[in-house]
Amino acid sequence: MSGATVVNHPLVQHKLTIMRDKDTSTQGFRRLLREISLLLCYEVTRDLPVVMQKIETPLQEMEAPILDGKKLVFASVLRAGNGLLEGMLDLVPAARVAHIGLYRDPQTLEPVEYYFKAPENLDERLVVVVDPMLATANSAIAAVDKLKERGANNLRFLCLLGSPEGVEKFNRAHPDVPIFTASIDEKLNEKGYIVPGLGDAGDRMYGTK
Ligand code: PRP
Ligand code: URA
Repeated sequence: MSGATVVNHPLVQHKLTIMRDKDTSTQGFRRLLREISLLLCYEVTRDLPVVMQKIETPLQEMEAPILDGKKLVFASVLRAGNGLLEGMLDLVPAARVAHIGLYRDPQTLEPVEYYFKAPENLDERLVVVVDPMLATANSAIAAVDKLKERGANNLRFLCLLGSPEGVEKFNRAHPDVPIFTASIDEKLNEKGYIVPGLGDAGDRMYGTK
């Protein structure tokens, strides 16, 4: 059994196909990532708890559902995580935001941390970690390690693409953290890239190399 929920919605798959295309422009890639993040956010928040609240419509009183509990946290793994974050904040504007600065050393493929800032009371909030790529999973594991060190105990990981190797490694390191993704691709190549993949997500988002 796969250790991830794959979001198979046709709109997600259509947009992902265009993002994979090497001829898609930086502008197009960024726009599609934002659009796809709305659909992925919908799935990752599908079972959030709600509580009934008494309100008055223009016609009468009623009890209607609103989100329960403390504001949730979106934790963006920089840089590419911000491409998912923006759209998710459109859907959940009251969410708190954590930033985790990590880059992958191209030789060792180990994550190097350069920044961390998170809201208070992580132990009382659902934390959704967002990063488009789960390749070796080293970055995702390090991000979740750090959030757990700061008290988080209810986490989900949302990405666009995973590798089978990365999903397995992440599941072993953090069996309590469910993964949501638009696709699990074929494999990792010898440089730690997801294939067929979409290349380097950060570079494609920002037009860098
Ligand atoms: C990419 C991606 C992930 C990481 C995934 O970031 O956004 O954070 O690689 O690879 P892993 O699963 O093997 O750790 P990168 O390090 O290129 O940094 P960037 O977002 O700043 O471009
Ligand atoms: N990071 C990316 O952006 N792409 C990959 O394929 C692997 C790591």
